[in-house]
Amino acid sequence: MMGAARKAARNLVRDFGEVENLQVSMKGPGDFVSSADLKAEKTLRAELKKARPNFGFLLEEGGIVAGDDKSHRWIIDPIDGTTNFLHGIPHFAISIGLERDGEMIAGIIYEPIRDEMFHAEKGAGAFLNERRLRVSARRNLDDAVLATGIPHRGRPGHALFLKEVAAVMAAVSGVRRQGSAALDLAYVAAGRCDGYWESGIKPWDIAAGIVLVREAGGYVSDFDGKGDMMACGDIVAANTHLHQPLLKLLRDARG
Ligand code: IPD
Ligand code: CA
Repeated sequence: MMGAARKAARNLVRDFGEVENLQVSMKGPGDFVSSADLKAEKTLRAELKKARPNFGFLLEEGGIVAGDDKSHRWIIDPIDGTTNFLHGIPHFAISIGLERDGEMIAGIIYEPIRDEMFHAEKGAGAFLNERRLRVSARRNLDDAVLATGIPHRGRPGHALFLKEVAAVMAAVSGVRRQGSAALDLAYVAAGRCDGYWESGIKPWDIAAGIVLVREAGGYVSDFDGKGDMMACGDIVAANTHLHQPLLKLLRDARG
C-alpha cells in the first residue's frame, strides 16, 4: 500500500507544481487536476493489483470493481483535498483502506508534500513514518482543537452544519477546516487535532482514517455512536475522553 502510494505521489507532486502555472491561464487548472486524479488512481490500481491480483476495489473515480476474492477490497481516494490541490494549497493526500468482510483492517494516508506516511493495521498500531501514534490526551473540550468539513455549494446540510458549528465553536479552543477528511482523521490519530466531525462524507474519504484513529487509541462512530460511518456518511472521531462529550454536543445542536 505504501509502495503504491509513493509511486502515485511522484506524478502528483509534479502535477501540483504545474497547477501554479495553470492558475493564471484562462482555462484554469480544472481539467488538468481531473486528469492528475485519474492518473494517480490508475497507478494505485495497477500497483495494488500486482500485489493482490484477486482483491476488489472501491475507487472514487472508477467506482466498484469486483474481484475474485469477495472478502477483500481496496477503498481508494487518489487525491483527498482536491479543492486544495486545485488552488495550489499544499494539503492533500492519497488514501488507501483495506476492507475485509466489511471491516476496515488496514489503511495508509500519504501526504506527499511533507512526506508524511500515516499507516495502520488492525491490532498492530498506527504510525507516522516510523513513529508510533497516539491520540491526544486532552480531557476538556475547552482545550480542544477540532477539525470539520463545511458543506459547500451543491451539497445538502448547510443549515444543520451551522447549528453544529455554532455549538462547537462556543465550546472549544478552535475549529479547523483543512480541506482533506483523510488528513483530518490522520491528524486526530497523531494527536494534532483532538477530534473531527463531518456529514455527507464518502467511504473513500474515511476508510483508511478509521483504522488510523482506532489503532491510535481513539474512537470513531456515526452521530448515534454506532459504527455505520461508511454507510451513512456521518462521522465523529475523537480521543477517548472527548468522543462522548463531542457526540452529545453535536446531537443536542442537531436537535
Ligand atoms: C473532500 C475532502 C473534504 C471534505 C469533503 C470531501 P475530495 O474530498 O475530504 O475535506 O470536507 O467532504 O468530499 O473531494 O477532496 O476528494
Ligand atoms: Ca475525498
